[in-house]
Amino acid sequence: MLPLLSATRFTKVMGSGRTQPCLMGCENEAGDEVEVVVKLRKHPQILPGGCVAESMASFLALDLGLAVRQPYRVHISKDFAQTVPDTGLRAILEKSEGLNFGCAKWGPGYTIWPRDQSLPKSMKRTAMEIFAFDGLIQNPDRRAANPNCVFLGDEFMIYDHETAFSHFITLFARPPWEPGGVDFLKDHIFRVVLRGEHLELDRFQGALEALDESRFRAYVDAVPVEWNGEAITGERIAEYLLNCIPHFNRIKLQLQTVL
Ligand SMILES: Nc1ncnc2c1ncn2[C@@H]1O[C@H](COP(=O)(O)OP(=O)(O)O)[C@@H](O)[C@H]1O
Ligand SMILES: [Mg+2]
Repeated sequence: MLPLLSATRFTKVMGSGRTQPCLMGCENEAGDEVEVVVKLRKHPQILPGGCVAESMASFLALDLGLAVRQPYRVHISKDFAQTVPDTGLRAILEKSEGLNFGCAKWGPGYTIWPRDQSLPKSMKRTAMEIFAFDGLIQNPDRRAANPNCVFLGDEFMIYDHETAFSHFITLFARPPWEPGGVDFLKDHIFRVVLRGEHLELDRFQGALEALDESRFRAYVDAVPVEWNGEAITGERIAEYLLNCIPHFNRIKLQLQTVL
């Protein structure tokens, strides 16, 4: 689920992202090069547990049929870290020696979803599913100022799930099936375009209901234990996701109230 790569070539820091994800050339076990965007485990802006949140959210998205790029474990060695020219960044790479979360770079043609973009009919159901997915994983970070969503033709691709499962570290947080539990979606990129719509989530719910304890156990087993934070751990996320399945009809009601 999380193939292992070794970082071999540092290219650049991506965009102006807060967490300075780095584009790197990496080698897979067959010796082929893969271009990957890597989140540095010890970056001061990455929440403890951020790499677990990224991985668990990616596994779930893939199982629910939402497009994310292939996630990886990326090994950073001391020698590799020393090839990075910027002193501050080099120090963060040195601290992050070992395994880090990465995802395959997307190809040319993808565009960041623009603010106030109208939604073609062909993309509506997926937009509804991404809205529901963010409610489920308690991800407050898909907002107009920071869409974390690209598209090509009429296909969406989502990324940046490092702040998912944020209710584990929020005081007085409510689960998404309780009133107020998905209020953080008020700034979601699709809230305005979906306003007043009836959420079509039958396909999404069917895919969620096909998951079970053993599947979530496989998610936990795939994630390096050193990625666990104190509050955000693979075990807690798996337990929470399993609990979301029988509550999904109630989650749907709460999602609908935000629209
Ligand atoms: N898989 C990818 N392929 C290409 N570009 C990416 C990929 N992942 C992230 N980026 C670029 O890097 C930027 C920052 O990444 P992101 O994961 O959103 O980190 P941050 O937490 O810093 O916002 C994104 O806005 C996007 O432009
Ligand atoms: Mg981002």
